[in-house]
Amino acid sequence: MDMDIQEVLKLAEELIYDHTGENLDYLQKTILQRTLEGQTYKKIAEETYASETHVRYIGAKLWKILSEILGENITKANFRTILENAKIYNLAIGRDNITNNINICPSNPRNSSTKTNPPQTPTQYIIDLDKAPEIINFYGRTEELSTLSKWIVSDRLRVISLLGISGIGKTTLSLQLIQEINGFGDQTPTFNYIIYRTLRFSPTLTTTLTNLLQIFAPETKTSDNIETLLSELQKYLKKYRCCIIFDDVQKLFAPGKLAGQYKSGYEDYQDFFQLLVTVSHQSCLLLISREKIPEITKLETENYPVRTLILGSLGAAANEICQKRQLADRESWEKLINNYQGNPRWLDIVATTIQELFSGQVAEFMEYETLILPEALQAELEQQFENLSPVEIRIMEKIANQNQPISIGETIRKSELSIQESVNVIQSLKKRLLLDRQLENNLTVFTLNPVWKKYLISNKK
Ligand SMILES: Nc1ncnc2c1ncn2[C@@H]1O[C@H](COP(=O)(O)OP(=O)(O)OP(=O)(O)O)[C@@H](O)[C@H]1O
Ligand SMILES: [Mg+2]
Repeated sequence: MDMDIQEVLKLAEELIYDHTGENLDYLQKTILQRTLEGQTYKKIAEETYASETHVRYIGAKLWKILSEILGENITKANFRTILENAKIYNLAIGRDNITNNINICPSNPRNSSTKTNPPQTPTQYIIDLDKAPEIINFYGRTEELSTLSKWIVSDRLRVISLLGISGIGKTTLSLQLIQEINGFGDQTPTFNYIIYRTLRFSPTLTTTLTNLLQIFAPETKTSDNIETLLSELQKYLKKYRCCIIFDDVQKLFAPGKLAGQYKSGYEDYQDFFQLLVTVSHQSCLLLISREKIPEITKLETENYPVRTLILGSLGAAANEICQKRQLADRESWEKLINNYQGNPRWLDIVATTIQELFSGQVAEFMEYETLILPEALQAELEQQFENLSPVEIRIMEKIANQNQPISIGETIRKSELSIQESVNVIQSLKKRLLLDRQLENNLTVFTLNPVWKKYLISNKK
């Protein structure tokens, strides 16, 4: 029997809303509708201007959620038939029964009696990526992915901090990671909830907690007392295995000061992070930041289930960026990648300039003695430069104008700061991952990465 597509679509939307508390977005709706019409993923991708991989990813999530709700393995191929059956069944028994009893099997109602016991472990499976950016390309990072999966799945760390300078690929890696560990195959998902939130717009802790609690219990009234909110959240982190990603944590720190000092009004995040490390629960919090997070550094030395991964160059996988951007002169790629620190965002910016002004000829672009910083790259560095404290800027400029790495002793001499101040500033720059430490003839020396160095020198002129 041919049921009206709109009706089936409406049922699917309602089921998902009841289950997740969220309405479908444009892409999700289009995927459902076009699937009902028998379209391929490829065509849906063309229509929505999304990549096919992304459409498949979102599609897989939809089938997964619907499978959870209906207790049956739903795929793109059987979605229509099962939903049509569900619709008929639903008309007979009322929708509430379907949604309240996750294990009911609508295409074969007789089986349902064997599955009516409430499940021992929560079978909910909710992905809320909020405004997480879409991953279009993903290259390399196999080692980082396996380290992080191990930390999460086998070592069951409660908190992981993922650090790295701007544009190195933290956000991208974290999204790839959750896609991999939760698998969209048949195995039970690692997490009941996967939530991504960015702190880019500096929400207060109350806002953040309220927002999270809304996901777990959409209809309950929330309190404005932080302690109540915290203990409420802890309850869910114990009951369910959740993965919560907080991105852009550095936005909680005050600009113009030394690293790691919270903006006023945001100090309570300190207790929040600390609590999530020290109090027992079965969830995992992934903190993404351009700078070290002081509480995490401290607790790491105390053997709590918390660890930090610092993300560096994309390495040889960055060749794929050059390939994708159709650059010429393959033999010069390695040097290009090294010069721009294997930073995918920097390489992407530079590739645009090489295409636009050098017809893709990498060798021609690299002919010059000095490193070229395209406008977009300068703007990117400028934004971070403005967040530094005046003493840090002073020291960075001194180091930039040196040809050799600098020791603490030299910074004191060159900058006319006291030993105490010099130590604090160097430490602060290290927390921001802007300085690298080396050992040279038994003397500890610090270097600045060449891109920053170039920026600081040209900035002064
Ligand atoms: N492994 C990767 N393969 C391909 N492209 C990547 C990879 N990692 C990052 N990129 C690309 O590099 C750019 C920067 O990545 P991303 O936004 O993840 O960096 P970030 O470390 O989160 O930066 P920020 O600190 O500014 O938030 C993006 O355009 C992204 O698509
Ligand atoms: Mg990011």
